[in-house]
Amino acid sequence: MVAFTLNGAAVSVADDGAPLLHVLRGELGLSGPRLGCGAEACGACVVLVDGAPAHACTLPAQAVAGRSVTTVEGLGTPAAPHPLQRAFLHEQAGQCGFCLSGILVAAVALLARDPDPDDAAIRAALDPHLCRCGSHNRIVRAVRRAAAEMRA
Ligand code: FES
Ligand code: FES
Repeated sequence: MVAFTLNGAAVSVADDGAPLLHVLRGELGLSGPRLGCGAEACGACVVLVDGAPAHACTLPAQAVAGRSVTTVEGLGTPAAPHPLQRAFLHEQAGQCGFCLSGILVAAVALLARDPDPDDAAIRAALDPHLCRCGSHNRIVRAVRRAAAEMRA
């Protein structure tokens, strides 16, 4: 078995060599992290492992044993959204939403290490994430808005 913390709760899953993304979506029933390319090229699967972005599509579940994994489901709730989730809604930063769960957790990691990022820093942090809907400018505005709210 592989035991780890998922969005604040202890979980354990079979130690069968599956990628973390398959475990999260299949065994643990989360739909936030998504399978896009499956090859670390799109960012749709990104989750936080001990606060750092990681590609769940290629990371074996065994690699998170004893560690803390955060997915978009762990950020906030519809009743009490994370400031980033609120800002993305306010800016209408997204269309289909496929890319957003990875982008949101990557933005959480960015703001944890840099509470006042400029546009270049935001773009650099989110560069590994593809948005096929072309929402990039709104996404950058939303991260800026959330950063300002979190600093206030
Ligand atoms: S699905 Fe993991 S980077 Fe695309
Ligand atoms: S909102 Fe559709 S891929 Fe980004």
